[in-house]
Amino acid sequence: MTHNNDSMKSKKSPADKASTKANAVPPVASSEQKYDVRPGQSIELLKELHILTRDGKLNQDSRRKLKQVYHLYQFIEPLLLQALAERPQISLVDHGAGKSYLGFILYDLFFKPRLLAGQDAGSIYGIETRGELVTRSQELAQRCEFPGMQFLPLSVAESIQSDALPEQIDIVTALHACNTATDDAIAFGLHKKAKFMVLVPCCQAEVASVLRHNKAANSKTALSELWRHPLHTREFGSQLTNVLRCLQLEAHGYQVSVTELVGWEHSMKNELIIATRKNQSNPKAKARLNEVLAEVGLQELAQRFFV
Ligand SMILES: C[S@@+](CC[C@H](N)C(=O)[O-])C[C@H]1O[C@@H](n2cnc3c(N)ncnc32)[C@H](O)[C@@H]1O
Repeated sequence: MTHNNDSMKSKKSPADKASTKANAVPPVASSEQKYDVRPGQSIELLKELHILTRDGKLNQDSRRKLKQVYHLYQFIEPLLLQALAERPQISLVDHGAGKSYLGFILYDLFFKPRLLAGQDAGSIYGIETRGELVTRSQELAQRCEFPGMQFLPLSVAESIQSDALPEQIDIVTALHACNTATDDAIAFGLHKKAKFMVLVPCCQAEVASVLRHNKAANSKTALSELWRHPLHTREFGSQLTNVLRCLQLEAHGYQVSVTELVGWEHSMKNELIIATRKNQSNPKAKARLNEVLAEVGLQELAQRFFV
């Protein structure tokens, strides 16, 4: 494992302390490992996130986890750079943050090196309903000396009106935020006119439940075969949810790309939706969304996928 502690030591920035504690890199274990942990990455953080073992080693499981994280990072880094080209300090909000490993990795790889070079590039806010996870993340951020990380014990829906968040938010992320929390994250991003949204949705039960409930009423259309069997109701409901989310984003003027989060093969929930705000609303997408809702008998969900 290689590291850049030398260059960090020579700096006199206030963030120096972070480099000593959070970047104490264990000795080189093998030539292979140096390609796994990046120079300057906080070893303490990687251990806390269980990406490194307690003795600072990578096993097969943790190497795979690290690759996944880098894979996701490679999608988000260009967005951070674009946002930073427009504003000197940017804000990213991570919804349904859990243990906040996404936020911590983003801060460690993107924000911390800039801070060490004397540039405050902005803040990451983690939104999480579970108080114990919020406290844990607050403590970890303090230990790592990551001043730009904040964690708020709020639901995604509550965070839309929260004064604790800045008015302007550049990037919204929601990685496996449960059930309708992804929908709330979209509502948050729309409210804040976020430049980018990066969503890896979790299973959403609401659409499937309405499909199930209205099955008899919608059985006249041959298309209802798509969700007649209970397993298909769940699967079709899940796919339809993401289709409706994409149309909603497009209706609000976002350009949307949908791809697979490679490396997450073990998870069924590996769809990555990246939305970029283009500023014009899209009446065609809006009409299409309403047509789809009507066709599958989901008009009662018009408010959920509001346009
Ligand atoms: C499956 S975990 C994912 C955590 C993290 N994003 C990750 O990928 O490791 C989902 C997290 O979202 C939180 N959560 C669920 N619904 C939420 C809501 N409406 N508002 C805020 N947090 C929520 C849960 O408490 C949980 O910690």
